[in-house]
Amino acid sequence: MINKKFTRPVVIAVDGPAASGKGTVSNSLANHFDFARLDTGLIYRALGLKVLGDGTDASDKQKVILLANQLSFDDLNQENLRSEKVGAVASRVAAIPDVRAVLLKFQRDFAVHPPAEKSGVVLDGRDIGTIVCPNANFKIFLIADKDVRATRRFKELQERGLRAIYSQILRDIVDRDARDSLRSVAPLEPAKDAFVLDTSKLSVDATFVAVLRYISTQNKD
Ligand code: DC
Repeated sequence: MINKKFTRPVVIAVDGPAASGKGTVSNSLANHFDFARLDTGLIYRALGLKVLGDGTDASDKQKVILLANQLSFDDLNQENLRSEKVGAVASRVAAIPDVRAVLLKFQRDFAVHPPAEKSGVVLDGRDIGTIVCPNANFKIFLIADKDVRATRRFKELQERGLRAIYSQILRDIVDRDARDSLRSVAPLEPAKDAFVLDTSKLSVDATFVAVLRYISTQNKD
């Protein structure tokens, strides 16, 4: 259990590059503690899908900002958000500072007022521990070798019956890492007080055990 010294709702921030295991760990944490979870990548993906559907050029900042202002939580439930194509556009629009400003409010509202009045939230993304929730009670930053991440993504797509070409996935991951890490606003980087965990050689279970151990050590009186 997470003890009472923490403010409510308790916030767990999980950041890291594409396919580092953030989603799986965040789901497990949310189930374990009965917290609400927000995959913030889905917000950028929903915007990416809007941009694609609208035929807007992802570099047309004014139009992309307009579309960002139209996003709602319902947009996060669409089916085809997880494709590599949508992920690539998401990463491009995520580099526009005014887009990030619009989406920041969306994410903070969720952290302050979680649905179903849950006592805590798990937010995963790229800048949760640094920008969205700098006062998060727990900050986890997952990393993994790019080849391990490409293999994970490749298997995930295959299991979902989607067409996947390994070399292309690896290239997309390298491109996305560069774009997410080098952008001027809220780049992908661990918060100074984050627990950084390399999951390259860890199973899903071992990763979760290591994260729970970190939380329990922070959670001592
Ligand atoms: O986590 P993901 O692969 O679903 O994220 C898709 C893109 O969205 C990612 O390449 C960069 C952007 N993103 C971001 O800039 N900040 C976040 N907190 C989450 C995602």
